[in-house]
Amino acid sequence: MPSIEGARVLVIGGAGFLGSHIVDQLTLEPVREIVVLDNFVRGTRTNLRQAVRDPRVRVVDGSITDLDCLREVIRGSDYVFHLAALWLYECVHQPRSALEVNVVGTYNVVETAQAAGVKRIVYSSSASVYGDALLTPMTEEHPFNNRTMYGATKIAGEQFLRAFYEGHRLPYVGLRYMNIYGPRMDYQGTYVSVIMKVLDRIDQGLPPVIFGDGSQAYDFVHVEDVARANVLAMGSDVADEFFNVGMGVKTTINELVELLLKITGSPLEPEYRPQEQMFVTHRVGSTEKAERVLGFRARIPLEEGLRSVVAWRREDQRQPIVERA
Ligand SMILES: NC(=O)c1ccc[n+]([C@@H]2O[C@H](COP(=O)([O-])OP(=O)(O)OC[C@H]3O[C@@H](n4cnc5c(N)ncnc54)[C@H](O)[C@@H]3O)[C@@H](O)[C@H]2O)c1
Repeated sequence: MPSIEGARVLVIGGAGFLGSHIVDQLTLEPVREIVVLDNFVRGTRTNLRQAVRDPRVRVVDGSITDLDCLREVIRGSDYVFHLAALWLYECVHQPRSALEVNVVGTYNVVETAQAAGVKRIVYSSSASVYGDALLTPMTEEHPFNNRTMYGATKIAGEQFLRAFYEGHRLPYVGLRYMNIYGPRMDYQGTYVSVIMKVLDRIDQGLPPVIFGDGSQAYDFVHVEDVARANVLAMGSDVADEFFNVGMGVKTTINELVELLLKITGSPLEPEYRPQEQMFVTHRVGSTEKAERVLGFRARIPLEEGLRSVVAWRREDQRQPIVERA
């Protein structure tokens, strides 16, 4: 990775689930300094426990909505990973906060980065920009069929980057993730993934609940693969491009639950309930462009990846509550 050698790298949202794995992978690179900016609304210091043992890692508690803080932190940075965002469900329940963080905050990052002479930004977008699949395979050319506030904020972020590239030649790459899973995924907050909900039920000896007929299909990709895609995108020469980041494998909720029951050795049978509000029911991305241009291909098969989640969750639950914060 010659281009990030000796660089000062800023990871915004770096105490979160994905961000902390990017920080871990950066510590394996010959960078000079790794600065994490996070306001800890969702991220934790525990996620960075391993990384902060590296003297090149520094953690700043601050928000992208605070321009003075952002200017101070971004100054001198060569490269910026921007992951800070509020999530799908937060966007539903607190749309104005989502606007302030995901839209205005992202604009702050882009404007400040340009002013500070940052060489490159890797932006965490989402496959949410596509909404439900209209065409398959779902390539990066797929229309913005999004119908959620979350997707709207991600589209806005993508467009700011494109506009700044056009106006100022600030190089960037946007990554549109499919469903990321892996160690450090949130399992205690209000907004937890289906994987954690199923594991919660299994732990309680209750049948996992499947809403609808379980045929909804998604593309689950392991967080370590996604972190690697970020590092590859930062080290590449390509700019002004968006890439799907997924396995390219379609997994139904029925298959996912079956795998989790198998891994945990549970004899339980799933319980079917009428479908509640569903945002997206079918989304599997084409991985061709990321492989061809970035040389990225996800490597961790779903069963192996889910085993890593189950093992990490058991280990994490053994820690006292204060240690988990
Ligand atoms: N996890 C997925 O499946 C998935 C899928 C598609 C896209 N994404 C996107 O990838 C990125 C990372 O996702 P994640 O799963 O690691 O989420 P996460 O919530 O764990 O990480 C986001 C981090 O940003 C921080 N943050 C939030 N608001 C902030 C602010 N105002 N200032 C500074 N920091 C702030 C949070 O504390 C958190 O540590 C996000 O942009 C998310 O929208 C994630």
